[in-house]
Amino acid sequence: MQVETSSRLPDVDSASAAHTGRCAAFIRGRIAEAGGSVSFAEYMQHALYAPGLGYYAAGATKLGEAGDFITAPELSPLFGSVIARQCAGVLDSVGGGSILELGAGSGRLAIDVLKKLSELKALPDRYLILEVSAELAERQRAAIETEVPELAPRVTWLAELPTGHRGVILANEVIDALPVERFVRRDSVRQLRVTIEGDTFRFVEADAPRNLESAVAAIEADLGNRLAEGYVSEVSLGAAGWLADVLASLDAGIALLFDYGLGRREYYAPDRNAGWLRCHFRHHAHSDPLILAGVQDITAWVDFSLVAAAAIESGSELVGYTDQASFLIGGGLEQELAGLASLAPAAQAELSRQVKVLTLPGEMGERFKCLGIRRGEAAVPGGFAFADRTHTL
Ligand SMILES: C[S@@+](CC[C@H](N)C(=O)[O-])C[C@H]1O[C@@H](n2cnc3c(N)ncnc32)[C@H](O)[C@@H]1O
Repeated sequence: MQVETSSRLPDVDSASAAHTGRCAAFIRGRIAEAGGSVSFAEYMQHALYAPGLGYYAAGATKLGEAGDFITAPELSPLFGSVIARQCAGVLDSVGGGSILELGAGSGRLAIDVLKKLSELKALPDRYLILEVSAELAERQRAAIETEVPELAPRVTWLAELPTGHRGVILANEVIDALPVERFVRRDSVRQLRVTIEGDTFRFVEADAPRNLESAVAAIEADLGNRLAEGYVSEVSLGAAGWLADVLASLDAGIALLFDYGLGRREYYAPDRNAGWLRCHFRHHAHSDPLILAGVQDITAWVDFSLVAAAAIESGSELVGYTDQASFLIGGGLEQELAGLASLAPAAQAELSRQVKVLTLPGEMGERFKCLGIRRGEAAVPGGFAFADRTHTL
């Protein structure tokens, strides 16, 4: 996501204020039912996905200029075009097949990938979308029907993962939207739960459940040392199971997972002692997930070592891990820019700006990574040929 970081949040308009009031009341109800507190993962699940109330489950525009943040596909069609080139190679190597996109947001990536694959005469049999937000699925359908009506019949929305999928699985900024647990290291591992204080939410420490304790023990075993007293961070207890299910649906092909994140050693580095939560409201980034429930996005950077280990555990093969800039350069960005000189100066300038944001280290180029996972026989996308960061996992 591309956002500004600011200590002062923009004013909350009256509709958003009313909405967050309703969402917060819903969460207060769940906290009361649970006896006074819920885990942070439960809080995040409600704040993002409570039907009709959560950030992704309610009506406001989320992605793009008019929303709260901009993702790579929202920023530039170049992202989808390069991914389409990678998909073409994989589809060819498995003898046809389909693309399955998880969490398709506004539908932008689907549109750009389909457009490019049509141009390359390499369309997939079907473009499948699995989206948890019914509201976003409607937006995706409308955008696809408007922008690529001739390709819309190939697109199918699924209510659950398919079986026997052959081809490609794509997920851009989906893992960071999966709920995480928050913990603090004391003599023992303590869970940070969410409770109510007056009209606001606040964190409270409690004994960690067994699965959180084991997850932190596994992290410390990998690091070779105990985290320092007072160290706060997050861990996803759901990502491994989620990925195992996703990969089990793939008979032959490649999964490409894009997100901001890093390997475990950097994720749990001594100086990262306040964790990796990031919230987005009207293009401003901050780190307080307990405000603006239902109207701000809540994300956690991804521990790619955890994701890679889950992939291997599921019997899949890692075929690459690199940063977004390297993936795009290795994947054909240059070919996509071949016609740049023939464009009008304003269009050239705009495309150059997009390339900079997608690839510069201080922008999206280095923070974002792509993990490639293979099942069965399938060609490894060229995007991984340029630079390999597997040693950081
Ligand atoms: C940050 S948005 C990214 C949207 C889009 N991929 C993009 O890059 O613009 C996260 C998306 O993942 C969806 N999502 C969250 N959890 C999901 C899950 N378990 N399965 C499928 N989609 C999910 C959300 O509803 C939303 O569409």
